[in-house]
Amino acid sequence: MSTGPRVAVYPGSFDPITNGHVDIIARGARLFDRIVVAVLANEAKTPLFSAAERVQIIREVLRGHEHVEVDTFDGGLLVDYAERKGASVIVRGLRAVSDFEYEFQMALMNRRLDHDIETVFMMPAEQYTYTSSRLIKEVFRLGGEVRGLVPPLVEDRLRSKQALLRDPQSAPRHA
Ligand code: PNS
Repeated sequence: MSTGPRVAVYPGSFDPITNGHVDIIARGARLFDRIVVAVLANEAKTPLFSAAERVQIIREVLRGHEHVEVDTFDGGLLVDYAERKGASVIVRGLRAVSDFEYEFQMALMNRRLDHDIETVFMMPAEQYTYTSSRLIKEVFRLGGEVRGLVPPLVEDRLRSKQALLRDPQSAPRHA
């Protein structure tokens, strides 16, 4: 087992980052020497925010958080990316039992692919257990209140995407 700095990767789509994600990152930053927030850039599902926008938003939201790096992760296996970053841990947030099956499959597949990388599940604060990027976009699109569930900057950015959220054909999508 390595005795160097303990690096963890926290991968995800972060489309957009929510307060639940921020909570997990803050908890992870207390446990590990460095936590790399790895934004999946090359997604099959077309994101609302481009990878560059998501990274820029996350960097701004996490400004002042120590031991946190924000990076993009462009396809390929997560375990290979983790290895390139010198990470021995993958952090994933678990909100409810419904997350468990998918997360369990991914953790065991990742373990099969690389025995040296351990997945660590972390629970967010209770008030974020029902928050997801998908629901945030849906509630916002339908005119509901998302204040307190996402950082204020994300609310602003969602406002700037309102037309695109309401009518996906209204603006060119990005890669
Ligand atoms: O926030 P998400 O969308 O639930 O994150 C999913 C993510 C990025 C963790 C997952 O899609 C992933 O790890 N993709 C990388 C491809 C890979 O390594 N697949 C095999 C892992 S089981």
